[in-house]
Amino acid sequence: MMSREKFPDDMLVCRCEEITAGEIRQAIREGARDVTGVKRRVRAGMGPCQGRTCEKLVQQILCQELRIDPRQTGRSTARPPVRPVPFGELAEGVSKNDL
Ligand code: FES
Repeated sequence: MMSREKFPDDMLVCRCEEITAGEIRQAIREGARDVTGVKRRVRAGMGPCQGRTCEKLVQQILCQELRIDPRQTGRSTARPPVRPVPFGELAEGVSKNDL
């Protein structure tokens, strides 16, 4: 079983949004019961990597705090674009006559 020391409160879990393990625990105390619930409360998983880096850690903290099986934590829904896209790239191929 994981101990709280594995995820100290000041440990950065979501690097994109700078969310710590303590903030995720707070979200759980406020009612988050799955990855999506944590995401809605503290934005963990909403950064440029779309949770690829932090989702597993969020799931582990949920399991530890709620004493639930990893299958009960759910997964977040990826929202496009999955990477930042410069406006110029989006407008490529669009001439002034098209506007
Ligand atoms: S590390 Fe959490 S969204 Fe990228």
